This record gives sequence, structure tokens and C-alpha cells, in this order.
Amino acid sequence: MNEHTEPGSVQGTLLTPSDTGHQPGTTGPNPPAAGPGTRAGAVWHGGPMHAYDRFSTFYDAVMDDPEPRANRVIEWIDRYSPEARSLLELGCGTGSILARLTTVPSLTGLDRSSEMLALARAKVPDARLVEGDMASFSLGERFDVVICVFDSLNHLMDFGDWRSMFAAVHEHLADGGLFIFDVNTVGELRRLGDEPPWVYDFDEGTAIIDVEFAEDASSHGISLWDIRVFEHQGDSRYELHHEQIGELGVPLPLIRAALATEFTLLEESNEVGDLPTEDSIKAHFVLRRPTK
Ligand SMILES: C[S@@+](CC[C@H](N)C(=O)[O-])C[C@H]1O[C@@H](n2cnc3c(N)ncnc32)[C@H](O)[C@@H]1O
Repeated sequence: MNEHTEPGSVQGTLLTPSDTGHQPGTTGPNPPAAGPGTRAGAVWHGGPMHAYDRFSTFYDAVMDDPEPRANRVIEWIDRYSPEARSLLELGCGTGSILARLTTVPSLTGLDRSSEMLALARAKVPDARLVEGDMASFSLGERFDVVICVFDSLNHLMDFGDWRSMFAAVHEHLADGGLFIFDVNTVGELRRLGDEPPWVYDFDEGTAIIDVEFAEDASSHGISLWDIRVFEHQGDSRYELHHEQIGELGVPLPLIRAALATEFTLLEESNEVGDLPTEDSIKAHFVLRRPTK
């Protein structure tokens, strides 16, 4: 894997498409989400800026339609916690999921990127939005439901942080409360690493996303998402916005074991509703904090 570039080091560069070695113009399906922050052995030192801060402006235009993943969450809440009055979304991003959860009266979102939260504030003005780290947070209240979707959890690049996130979720759930999350599997991150870069044209310009993958000795998958957005400035001039985001893939048995002591498993499924394997795209988990 290449040495990563400090986020922001090429921010705002003006260039033409031919400067990039890629030719905007071909498009594909929108990519699955990528994650921010750190990767094993390499830590961003971006000061107050976090991953997604730079990409935030383009996020909604470039990423998948949020409707299906919001609908999936709504179905699970209807099935397992239809009386839910409060919900916390970890890694809420631009608020596209919160905005669709209209049956839950009290909504809270937590995200590490102030820029993503600024967009969420416009989309869900009544929600409580908190800037913070999902690996370690203390909001002083308990929720009927906690969700973390669109592989936001994969953004934590150390499995110890996944465990501390699970512990923090447990602390923030009411007795009998629901915990819904999904992850990209190791197999999916490997597949994405094997694919050629995606090129997407959208109204404001062109995005090119290139994923690199490596596996460590404990079969964790480490992927680096190199995201370049060429914002059209008129004529043949483009402004380059560059960001690099990491995702950690964790073998499913390790995830199950980390959850087993604190939560009761209600459902585990892949993208088509079967039991997930390492070759699935996604693993979705629906769990309950047991009632005392
Ligand atoms: C792929 S986006 C998902 C956004 C939203 N859940 C959705 O479905 O559209 C991942 C989000 O997780 C946030 N994030 C990444 N690492 C985080 C962390 N350690 N703590 C809180 N948020 C984090 C990012 O800033 C980003 O907004």
C-alpha cells in the first residue's frame, strides 16, 4: 500500500482532468461508504479536520441512495421495538438516515466530522447533534435504539475501539433496547481492493475512488480509500478535493464473540437476508440489551 498523503495536502489544487491519469466520463454504481481516521501503523495528523470534512460537500451526491438502508432500520424497529421513543445514530453523517426515522420522536446523532454534522443540522433541525468519537462517548442519557449503519463502524481502525464502542452502546441503551449495525466484511473490502477505481460523474464534477487492501497476520482486512473529487469550475478547470479514508474489516467470529457477553442476538443477515459469511458484502446485526 502506498504511503498515504496527509489529508489536505493537495486540497484545492486547480487542474484539468488529464492531469490525473484518469479520464472522467465513465460511471458505475455508487460505491459503498468508506471510513475515516487511522489505519494500522499510520495515523492521520490532520489537526482539527477529520476524514469526511473535505468530502462532506459531495457526500450526498456521490454516495448510495440512503432510502433502502433507512427502510431496513425502520423494519427492524417496527419488528423489535415498535414503541421506541428515542434513538441514537453513531456516525450519523449528513443526517440522511435520521431524517427518515420519522416515527421516533427523539433523535440524536453523533459524528466526528463537524462538516458532516453541519449538513445534518440543516436536514434534521430538531435532532440533537453531537460532535464526538463513537469509540468513546458519554451522552448522559439512555436510548431505546442505537444504530450505526453504512459501514460507519469499519472506520474504527483498531478492533479494541470496536470493543469500546460496543461497551459504550451497552451503557447508552435502555434495558431491552435495540442495537442495529452493519459492517463491510473482510471479503468485501478485499473485492473492492481488487476492482479498478470507480469514476462517477455528478452535477458538480467527477469523483474517483480507488480502494487498496491488505490483510494483517490476524486476518483483519485493512483498506485505504483514496477519494478525489474534481469540482468543475467552468471551462476545463477543476478544483481537486482529496481525502484518504481507512476501513478495518474484522472476521465475523471475532465480532460475534465481542458482542456475546453484553447483547442478545436477534438477527444476523447479509445483504440478501441470509446468514453472512466472509464472502458476503455486508453483515447486518440486530441485538438487544437484555432486560435485568
Ligand atoms: C459512511 S458515513 C455514514 C453516514 C450515515 N450513517 C449514512 O448512512 O449516510 C460514515 C460516517 O461515520 C463518521 N465517523 C467515522 N469515524 C467516526 C468516529 N470514530 N466517531 C464518530 N463518527 C465517525 C464519519 O464522519 C461519517 O460521517
